[in-house]
Amino acid sequence: MVQPVPLGLVLRDRHCVVAGEGADARAMVERLRAAGADVIESGGGVLTDSVALVFALHEDPDRNRALAREAHARRIPVHVRDMPELSDIHLPRVWTLADADVAVFHPDPDIVDDLGVRLRTALPSGYARIVDWVRRGRERLACRFPGGEPRTGFWRNLLSGAAAERVLAGQEKQAEALLEQSLASGSPSRGEVYLIGAGPGDPDLLTLRAVRLLQQCDAVLYDRLVAPAVLELLPASVERIYVGKQRDRHPVPQAEINNRLRDLALSGRRVARLKGGDPFIFGRGGEEIEELMQAGVHFQVVPGITAASGCAAYAGIPLTHRDYAQSCVFVTGHRREGGLDVDFRALVRPGQTVVCYMGLHTLDAFCRGLVDEGMDPDTPAALVEQGTTDRQRVIIASVGDLSARTAEADVRAPTLAIIGDVVRLRERLAWFRGSGRGDGF
Ligand SMILES: C[S@@+](CC[C@H](N)C(=O)[O-])C[C@H]1O[C@@H](n2cnc3c(N)ncnc32)[C@H](O)[C@@H]1O
Repeated sequence: MVQPVPLGLVLRDRHCVVAGEGADARAMVERLRAAGADVIESGGGVLTDSVALVFALHEDPDRNRALAREAHARRIPVHVRDMPELSDIHLPRVWTLADADVAVFHPDPDIVDDLGVRLRTALPSGYARIVDWVRRGRERLACRFPGGEPRTGFWRNLLSGAAAERVLAGQEKQAEALLEQSLASGSPSRGEVYLIGAGPGDPDLLTLRAVRLLQQCDAVLYDRLVAPAVLELLPASVERIYVGKQRDRHPVPQAEINNRLRDLALSGRRVARLKGGDPFIFGRGGEEIEELMQAGVHFQVVPGITAASGCAAYAGIPLTHRDYAQSCVFVTGHRREGGLDVDFRALVRPGQTVVCYMGLHTLDAFCRGLVDEGMDPDTPAALVEQGTTDRQRVIIASVGDLSARTAEADVRAPTLAIIGDVVRLRERLAWFRGSGRGDGF
């Protein structure tokens, strides 16, 4: 079949024939009338040389064929329902997103449906606000830039910078202030920091907002726990800066990370600060944005799926359950001055799930601490290694022997311990199978 050329037709006052009795025909009549066309609803036999377009939308293919023959004889372009081979006009599927019409031509209706869903999810939910804001701002900018390239470039920069992000967040006043600043200086201020939670590993667990911001940033500062698959989503032009820390070693001191974020943003760059999991859960995200706030740098925080949620879900262990656990606590098994800085008494409670982050090197002391405080050593416990990734493994034991079972298993960080009766549910609910070194078990 010959490839159709996508076109937008102005049909004001043009005669269009729509033949058919069903919902498609009615929708077409409505659409053409809304566009100002002069619509003739007909069963055929009415074609004259003044007709601009014909739509043969009968249920009966023979009637459509007959009308198509008539249209072809008069050289009038015709669309024939379900017969692309007889059609001069191919109809796209049209979605109105914000106030733009997006038309998709593809012969496979399932692909068209799928594209529609993807298009809608690619657009931030507040995009209509951007369209409105641009419309209102145009006039002001028209006097400043009489036309051509500089104006286009100015808008392009503005639309991918801090001001547009403020509009999306519903903060119109701040956006206006940024627009005024940009007009005064002649160049849009784009510098901003996006503090983004990258989730526990599987890149599909990023939020829509995280993906959008990653695709528009100029530089990224990332941690050791950010999965390589997440970094692969970045455009090639983005500068990648590793600032990961390792246990007991801090190659890039926190103060230096803070300064770098601030300086990059103040120099007008859009900087993504990517952190494993959620930036506000054992992630020092609060410290970083406090510094930015003091320096007057614009920022936004994008939550991520924390390791506890991701690992529990992929291990088939609900963290709460009506029969097993009514509360859940997240603790860190980090050492401070040689010992574990944990309030074990608060952790040993009936019906409570305990999730321990950063626990591999302190796992033994952590489990002993729980048992010493009265936890039954037979309480079920799981260690999730590299959760949500292809290399995920889950070791099931009891709190009394989790540390020994882990030592036998050549486990590699990152790992997370889940302790409590909910671990029993894994027997019934395990669903995820990693395809790499781990087998999901
Ligand atoms: C510095 S904390 C950061 C936590 C992160 N902000 C979050 O919300 O998940 C790092 C700890 O998170 C846990 N962790 C992160 N990703 C993990 C994964 N994919 N599998 C198992 N544990 C993970 C480990 O306990 C690791 O030591």
